[in-house]
Amino acid sequence: MTCAEMKTTERTRMNIDSVKLVYFSPTGTTKAIVQGIARGLNVATVHDIDITSPAARERPVSVSENELLVIGVPVYMGRVPEALNGWLSALRCQGAPAVCVAVYGNRAYDDALLELKNLVAESGGVPVAGAAYIGEHSFSNDETPIARHRPDADDLRDAEAFGAAVREKLDGMPSLSGAADIAVPGAFPYGSDPKLWDVDFIAVDARCVGCGECADACPVGAIDKDNRDQIDIVACITCCACIRACPQGARSVKPGLVNDAAHRLHKNFPDRKETEHFL
Ligand SMILES: Cc1cc2nc3c(=O)[nH]c(=O)nc-3n(C[C@H](O)[C@H](O)[C@H](O)COP(=O)(O)O)c2cc1C
Repeated sequence: MTCAEMKTTERTRMNIDSVKLVYFSPTGTTKAIVQGIARGLNVATVHDIDITSPAARERPVSVSENELLVIGVPVYMGRVPEALNGWLSALRCQGAPAVCVAVYGNRAYDDALLELKNLVAESGGVPVAGAAYIGEHSFSNDETPIARHRPDADDLRDAEAFGAAVREKLDGMPSLSGAADIAVPGAFPYGSDPKLWDVDFIAVDARCVGCGECADACPVGAIDKDNRDQIDIVACITCCACIRACPQGARSVKPGLVNDAAHRLHKNFPDRKETEHFL
């Protein structure tokens, strides 16, 4: 290759100088996956933007065309969690390439990845890759394990390798204009109703010392800071972040709808599902 040709190649290559790593992750599995992807991308500047807390979702995010957006969400009812609607409608991507990641609890991701991809495209982003990963189900516990301890070391290795593959794809692209659409599973109109259950399902026992970690962990501010067993069941998204966050183990799932779902999922989805990549 001549010097002139090399210059042309450098000039036309995609020039990504930073990553905006955005995730909503009440129980931490989505966070672990997207951070694994970021390691594989190996870009010097990574802006870690955790939109799990209500306060964080008050800050809109813009992504410029020299940045890469990596966005990860858990699958709720086969859809993107409704709690993110407001934040997602304020997202501005200005032609930035985007990687869309859905993390699900070993049942199915249905239309969630397609919905995320469409929302990112509506915000001006150009989806260049997508993936569906498995995370331990929010309803999983010792009695009803569902995808227990996932993502595990293999999943995280996979996430890093996926990040490296995305980087290679971007490095090999002359520009985003004309980038082929990535096909992901799912159908529009979306099949399932994203509406969550209004259910009083958390038991709080005498071990509660009122430390407030549960209220701080709640992604929708549904727990009364002064009275931790008072939960706004309309606001609650049944994510179980408060159960996982309690240092005393004082919070658990009561008998009823969520407990029944945990038993059903444990029984019906015992087999390990594997990651799917769309590049
Ligand atoms: C309200 C709700 C609905 C869920 N719906 C699904 C679903 O449709 N399919 C599935 O496989 N997992 C489902 N899950 C499980 C989560 O997608 C899964 O546990 C994910 O790893 C949680 O991500 P996080 O750890 O980042 O919070 C649901 C969890 C909750 C709380």
